[in-house]
Amino acid sequence: MDSHQEIEQVKQQLTSIISKLILVIGLLVFTLLSIPLIMYYQDLPSKAKISKENITSAEIDEDTTLYWTSLNIDNILDKNQKELASYGKELIMHTAKYLGPKGSVLKMSNGLNCQNCHLQAGTAVFGNNFGSVASMYPKFRARSGSIENIHKRINDCFERSLDGNSLDTNSKEMRAIATYINYIGGNVKKGEKAVGSGFKDMDFLNRAADPKKGLSVYQLKCQSCHQANGEGLLNADQTEYVYPALWGNHSFNDGAGLYRITNFAKYVKYNMPQGVTHKSPMLADEEVWDVASYVLSQKRPHKQTPNDWPDISKKPIDHPFGPYSDSISERQHKYGPFQPIVNLYKQKNNVYNYWLEVYVLQYLFLCFPHLL
Ligand code: HEC
Ligand code: HEC
Repeated sequence: MDSHQEIEQVKQQLTSIISKLILVIGLLVFTLLSIPLIMYYQDLPSKAKISKENITSAEIDEDTTLYWTSLNIDNILDKNQKELASYGKELIMHTAKYLGPKGSVLKMSNGLNCQNCHLQAGTAVFGNNFGSVASMYPKFRARSGSIENIHKRINDCFERSLDGNSLDTNSKEMRAIATYINYIGGNVKKGEKAVGSGFKDMDFLNRAADPKKGLSVYQLKCQSCHQANGEGLLNADQTEYVYPALWGNHSFNDGAGLYRITNFAKYVKYNMPQGVTHKSPMLADEEVWDVASYVLSQKRPHKQTPNDWPDISKKPIDHPFGPYSDSISERQHKYGPFQPIVNLYKQKNNVYNYWLEVYVLQYLFLCFPHLL
């Protein structure tokens, strides 16, 4: 090989390295330039969603959605199963009679009935119904960081919403409640959510919810039933609430789902005052958020939950207890404004997605240079 050939070879190698370098730089420039595009397109669906959520009451009247309706336990053929499911339904409607402070079976909870929050024995559209339980459980829940079966989920509400103890999984009461809930949702496909289950979404306020304004809403729109001190009203023999407690010793504790203001607000907007449905809300959004902040600023039982949210980045925006994966205050996480928190998380997500794309492209290039 003469020196001329050697020079040619080095030249060729150099051009190949340089062209690869140019490609890498080109790719980097391309991905950098695509940031605004990626962000723009990722924003589109959420923009569409927000405008769809702003439906007017006229549009609600024309709502032709087929909402989930529960199966009727009277149709259960097996006599024992039917009896068990009916007992389960009875326990959900009149929990306190059996398991409350004066419970005839066990004294293990605060006096609320499951039905106070899961309206019409857990069958009401957007009344926090049980339509998606049979179809979705067992499922992973970020709060516990584990896969929860229906028994664990039921006991979650006993320990938090009913500020009580858990039921033995093999007890007749637990089997009855689980049988009832599983049966009524048996018409929903496994893995799918029932239409109208849980709560109906509502818009955020562009300010923090205000407990002071909430007090006057409370006095005007809630107090006649739930009483001035939020302690509710018991029936004559004190076995069950006519109007359940909203705060104080007999209310849900601060580890409960309803202690999160978005859940509380959605429940109230489409279910309170008593008789309101998702088709006939009575309170304006502002009244709802403010009264929610008023009720949630009152005293209630505290629950130690050191094992909740093992991955703090999965905490919902309105989880009222730190630490958080952001630097937003506990107060803002409790009362809002929430849109800035949503925007921050979206932005974080976009930046994360962008760098993921850059790394994938570079990885592809390094592993398969001949592809380029
Ligand atoms: C103070 C209100 C309240 C009471 C009382 C209550 N719950 Fe709940 N329950 C909730 C809320 C709120 C959720 C949804 C929480 C969330 O997703 O963060 C929920 C969720 C559930 C779920 C899961 C639903 C799903 O689709 O994932 C089950 C099952 C359940 N509750 C059972 C019960 C049972 C059984 C009782 C009575 C022992 C009960 N609850 C009493 C408020 C309550
Ligand atoms: C006409 C009486 C009445 C009025 C007024 C009323 N509620 Fe209720 N509320 C009830 C009844 C009854 C229940 C239990 C529902 C059931 O068991 O079917 C309930 C349940 C609740 C619950 C869930 C159970 C609990 O104890 O935590 C909340 C939260 C609630 N109401 C909030 C409010 C708020 C806020 C207002 C005012 C905007 C209000 N309610 C106005 C009668 C009323």
